[in-house]
Amino acid sequence: MIIEPRMRGFICTTSHPAGCEQNVKNQIEYIKSKGSIDGAKKVLVIGASTGFGLASRITSAFGSDAATIGVFFEKAPAEGKTASPGWYNSAAFEAEAHKAGLYAKSINGDAFSKEIKQQTIDLIKADLGQIDLIVYSLASPVRLHPVTGVLHRSVLKPIGDTFANKTVDFHSGKVSEISIAPCNDEDIQNTVAVMGGEDWAMWIDALKEANLLAPGATTVAYSYIGPALTEAVYRKGTIGRAKDHLEATAFEITNSLADLNGKAFVSVNKALVTQASSAIPVIPLYISLLYKIMKQEGIHEGCIEQIQRLYQERLYTNGEVPVDEKGRIRIDDLEMRADVQEKVALLWDQAVTENVAEIGDLEGYRKDFYNLFGFDVAGVDYKAEANEMMGIESIA
Ligand code: NAD
Ligand code: NA
Repeated sequence: MIIEPRMRGFICTTSHPAGCEQNVKNQIEYIKSKGSIDGAKKVLVIGASTGFGLASRITSAFGSDAATIGVFFEKAPAEGKTASPGWYNSAAFEAEAHKAGLYAKSINGDAFSKEIKQQTIDLIKADLGQIDLIVYSLASPVRLHPVTGVLHRSVLKPIGDTFANKTVDFHSGKVSEISIAPCNDEDIQNTVAVMGGEDWAMWIDALKEANLLAPGATTVAYSYIGPALTEAVYRKGTIGRAKDHLEATAFEITNSLADLNGKAFVSVNKALVTQASSAIPVIPLYISLLYKIMKQEGIHEGCIEQIQRLYQERLYTNGEVPVDEKGRIRIDDLEMRADVQEKVALLWDQAVTENVAEIGDLEGYRKDFYNLFGFDVAGVDYKAEANEMMGIESIA
């Protein structure tokens, strides 16, 4: 069928298989162009179908010839109805990996559940033996707790005071004032339960228990800090508490892996347009201004450039992994550069509906947003019949 983007609120309800495929191919080409990385050879990526997780899977496979197992939660296609983009991304990834002679299998289901952990363990046992890198890159609004049965919902709210600031509707370009009422204690607990480190630790415990972690195994999860502008609603808000918990969990996991000489890291990544970040108020305006400045300075990166740098210049240098004073890997260094942040803060004060398309990179934001769903990708013929039933080789 012919597929067009269909918007509902902050999300696009359709996705384009050929556009998603092209995005994946572009990322693979980028990784190949950067040369080989002396990295892990057997890799599990949890949250492998979009954003930073997909970039990690691609970097491991095409940078280090790694066998990869990807876990994700995506919607399969149905006759006349498109799949979610992560489905098509994973279909394209597997097809390319298999063509290149690389092992790649995928598991589609709720990574928070005991069942999906068990299914993954069985697959690793059967096919890979032991693994040496686990990337934890889940972004989810909900988690059904596997022990208590409680359904936790994460929220993006400030703690203590109402937060009032500007935001932009990136579709209409309208800049407006928003205010977000502070959370209650339950909101904090729920957000930590969903986006904190408990599930990450559960995964690593389960893998260790099953003797599936190779000596020296590494695990990495992704975090965000960001500027003072977004602090009240991000790093000092409910999601920030979850990230604090995730970062603290890295030390606990490292302790639990001492006998294997294993190590857990948190990598602090750059702000990027993903399905998760478009829904956070204030962030789209910040990202539009940030993109403008970083592109001007020639230091803009997307997920794939970020993760390539994480592997090549942080995780696999054959030396110590460089970390900040809190033990975190920083690949948000370019975003957080003082000159970049000063320029963004100046633009922030000036931003109004009349000038935002000019002083900010609204066009780049929109393009990245549509690209997430496989639309507006160069080289794709959107007038041609699309194969919406495109399957994932290891699943279909
Ligand atoms: P994303 O939405 O692109 O990817 C989320 C992944 O999690 C997808 O593969 C999805 O299928 C999977 N997933 C969600 N719920 C699941 C479930 N229940 N079971 C199995 N899989 C599930 O998100 P992203 O932006 O790549 O975020 C990944 C991590 O990076 C998050 O921890 C996020 O906070 C962090 N991060 C994001 C940014 C940013 O600007 N986007 C910046 C820094 C750090
Ligand atoms: Na991801």
